[in-house]
Amino acid sequence: MITFKNVTKCYEDTETYAIRNFSETIEDGEFILLTGESGAGKSTIIRLLLKEIEPTMGRILVDGRDISSIEDRKIPLYRRQIGIVFQDFKLLPDHTVYENINLARMIAGSGRNKEDKKISYLLSLFGLDMLYKRYPRELSGGQMQKVCLARAIINHPSIILADEPTGNLDRNASVEIMRLLELIARQGSTVIVATHDVDTADGLSYRQIAIEKRAQDISYTYQKTQA
Ligand SMILES: Nc1ncnc2c1ncn2[C@@H]1O[C@H](COP(=O)(O)OP(=O)(O)OP(=O)(O)O)[C@@H](O)[C@H]1O
Ligand SMILES: [Mg+2]
Repeated sequence: MITFKNVTKCYEDTETYAIRNFSETIEDGEFILLTGESGAGKSTIIRLLLKEIEPTMGRILVDGRDISSIEDRKIPLYRRQIGIVFQDFKLLPDHTVYENINLARMIAGSGRNKEDKKISYLLSLFGLDMLYKRYPRELSGGQMQKVCLARAIINHPSIILADEPTGNLDRNASVEIMRLLELIARQGSTVIVATHDVDTADGLSYRQIAIEKRAQDISYTYQKTQA
């Protein structure tokens, strides 16, 4: 379970709130679409969960534990339970499909034989069986994103975070990626997707968390106490 308790983030060099007084509880296995206009704070929420940045105020609990209490040296271990998917894929260009997925597995240090089977299983689940020897430049955007999904879930993370995963894809590829993300949630991972494209999830079962920026909510007193 992931709980945000009155989370506020001001980036160091700005006076404005990236996210303000955000509270929400996300249960295990939920498929969440995080929506809101550009600048609403969707990526900020994802980055907070990854511990790339720290909240200015408030607390974030993952399975009951306040993640701000995790020591720096334990952050890699914390991140091991999280799979990440980006808009711009971030595949290694000089590695094949297989190698890109396998590398994620090796970094996590899991055993070889069983996982080879797991990679084949994922490739066939995602319809990539024939493509495992190809390099990213030889794939379509939709295929690249499927490789990213496979890479994100190869180590059985309990949480998947995806920031605009369909941002560079056409409608059909987007619908397919959303369908796979929902499938991943149905298999038990908590999946949080920041997206502008709610309609690509038509017919899927999801919960939408819509961030609405209300101008000057909560009042300035809050802002002053932070300085
Ligand atoms: N590193 C940063 N330093 C300063 N301000 C930032 C930083 N990153 C984001 N912001 C600001 O925080 C606010 C929220 O940004 P964020 O990237 O979370 O929005 P978003 O909902 O992901 O938007 P988009 O839909 O365009 O991706 C914006 O006003 C943005 O300008
Ligand atoms: Mg964003």
